[in-house]
Amino acid sequence: MKRAIHVAPSILDADFANLEKELDKIATADWLHLDIMDGHFVPNLSFGPPVVKRLRGKTALPMDAHLMVTNPEALIPLFVEAGVEMITVHLETTPHLHRLVSWIRAEGLKAGVALNPATPLDGLELVLPDLELVLLMTVNPGYGGQKLIRGVLEKVERLRKYLDERDLACRIGVDGGINMETARDVIAAGADHLVAGTYIFSSPDPAAALQSLRNITV
Ligand code: DX5
Ligand code: ZN
Repeated sequence: MKRAIHVAPSILDADFANLEKELDKIATADWLHLDIMDGHFVPNLSFGPPVVKRLRGKTALPMDAHLMVTNPEALIPLFVEAGVEMITVHLETTPHLHRLVSWIRAEGLKAGVALNPATPLDGLELVLPDLELVLLMTVNPGYGGQKLIRGVLEKVERLRKYLDERDLACRIGVDGGINMETARDVIAAGADHLVAGTYIFSSPDPAAALQSLRNITV
């Protein structure tokens, strides 16, 4: 199913001292990607619900909380309250994925599931019909500015084939190392939701950088 490419800027590499201004630069995005890191599941600590709640009042963009945390269940109520539209949990962080996805959806939010580069697709099968997004990490999570792991492209292709064969509406996101060059490859492989941090926020014109990703045709 060929669809318009969604671009979700990650603010992890934005100027945290001027976040409101940074948000204005990406007002044309499809999603706002919020990298929530707890320093346990990933070796970095970013920001949490109080900051997200403030951001809610400063942007009209739908917000996706990418939970890179060891105990996502504990944070669901806080992000619901903070006003996000989607919560993307890591498959690796819960033995009860179906229950967690059902809970997120019961709260009226969209549900996404993220997989680290080495995590196989198998554990997704039962929940795929309930997902808005599968986020395939194209870097080992924890930091922006890393190089895309090319081996994940084959995983994108396999998931695309699986979803198309079953006519499932879930989007395929890729997250990490996305720029003009790598975006062509991941879109050709079947991705239709691009998370980009460094490429967008290091550009002199983030809105143009964002649009350039969206305009890619393969
Ligand atoms: C990494 C985060 C990504 C990252 C993307 O753990 O999940 O969203 O911030 O940053 P770039 O686009 O700089 O690789
Ligand atoms: Zn992310």
